[in-house]
Amino acid sequence: MAFKSLSFMTPSTRRASWSGAALGLALAGVLAAGAATAEQKHREDVDVAAASNDGVRYFNAEDIPTFNINDKGEVDWPTFSGFRRYHAECHVCHGPDGEGSTYAPALKNSALNLDYYAFVEVVASGRQVTGASGNSVMPAFGTNKNVMCYLDDIYSYLRARGMDALPRGRPAKREAKSPEFDAAEKECMDG
Ligand code: HEC
Repeated sequence: MAFKSLSFMTPSTRRASWSGAALGLALAGVLAAGAATAEQKHREDVDVAAASNDGVRYFNAEDIPTFNINDKGEVDWPTFSGFRRYHAECHVCHGPDGEGSTYAPALKNSALNLDYYAFVEVVASGRQVTGASGNSVMPAFGTNKNVMCYLDDIYSYLRARGMDALPRGRPAKREAKSPEFDAAEKECMDG
């Protein structure tokens, strides 16, 4: 079972983006993948405002990872990391810049429509849909550290794209990587 592999995940220093709640829900299999896709959210209903920062990344008021663009127009490092990881692991199917492809949906929209926990659940355990138009397979990445250690970053990047806070392409300006991010990254990748 894929979720066993999640034990290597380390909660972020102060507030667990990999919170017990997320894993608990996923482990219990309470979330039916796909259930959350039914309803289309309006952008104004999606809270992406950065309310806090634990040294590693920004969170909204509900402690969900989010992006931040500072007054110099620089995107936060984790979101820039998400841009890189997305284009290493996801874009082959989901298209560049989260725009979608004929094979897989536009994740810049999914990141707004799916809540964080549903998003994590789909990526960790994958999804397979068999229909009239054939098979569509979202692989399970639960054992892939290159994805799981950066999933919050990927989520923040896709939310920034969905909100049009970032244009297509490589973000032009970014903040430096913080020592806290570096430490959390090493801990997750080596753990
Ligand atoms: C081999 C192709 C492939 C790769 C690589 C891939 N996906 Fe997918 N993904 C799919 C397909 C196909 C679907 C649609 C599955 C379905 O029909 O429900 C999907 C669906 C999803 C969904 C659900 C979207 C929604 O709106 O319901 C999420 C979230 C997702 N992928 C995230 C990712 C992330 C993040 C990565 C990179 C770490 C990734 N995927 C890499 C093929 C892929």
